[in-house]
Amino acid sequence: MNILVTAGPTREAMDPVRFISNRSSGKMGYAIARAAAARKHKVVLISGPVNLEPPSNVGVIRVVTAAEMLEAVKTNMLWCDVLIMAAAVADWRPVAVSAQKIKKREKIRSVKLVATTDILLAIRSKKGKRIFVGFAAETENLVEEARRKLKAKSLDLIVANDVSRRDAGFDVDTNKVTFMASDGEVTDLPLMSKLAVAKRLIAWIERKAGRSR
Ligand code: CTP
Repeated sequence: MNILVTAGPTREAMDPVRFISNRSSGKMGYAIARAAAARKHKVVLISGPVNLEPPSNVGVIRVVTAAEMLEAVKTNMLWCDVLIMAAAVADWRPVAVSAQKIKKREKIRSVKLVATTDILLAIRSKKGKRIFVGFAAETENLVEEARRKLKAKSLDLIVANDVSRRDAGFDVDTNKVTFMASDGEVTDLPLMSKLAVAKRLIAWIERKAGRSR
């Protein structure tokens, strides 16, 4: 299959030296790309700024902002059979981007933000028979929030991720997730390495694709 994976954070600039971002390391998305390529799928990885070496047998498109990630997903989604949105896309960007470094003496008290485009919502109408997988990074009401996003974003599967745990979520090599499928199937996985989670995810996708063929 042709599998498109997004990974890492996006960065939304305020001026040439400052940005808004989040704690995503890209480890989960890169592990998914590695696991998919190891199963001989064709993989394109759209990556925000991270400090990771991409797997050698994977095509890599580097982006910085949510707008660039949206464009890269739009450009590549017709090619793919499966889209896995593991990226932690920034939800807001500063309204104004200063061309010069904002100086301390300017004493700014607040930064005006505007919402970025939700990538999954923006491409939902072009889904067709493609398999869409999203992640839900939550600190509270994990199951309810994940279920809401599964529906709202027309996903086949959401990987519910409790990021308030120290051994799961941001920057660590392990994760504790629950797979929630659109048919109601819920699979609670134990704490495992991100690569092991990635392998389980690819196996789920292969089963799903096999069933709908
Ligand atoms: N996502 C996206 N475009 C965005 C933000 C998120 O496509 N602008 C995707 C993420 O890649 C993830 C899923 O939507 O697969 C859920 O992301 P998450 O940050 O958990 O949720 P949000 O939709 O941002 O909702 P909330 O802020 O209410 O948690």
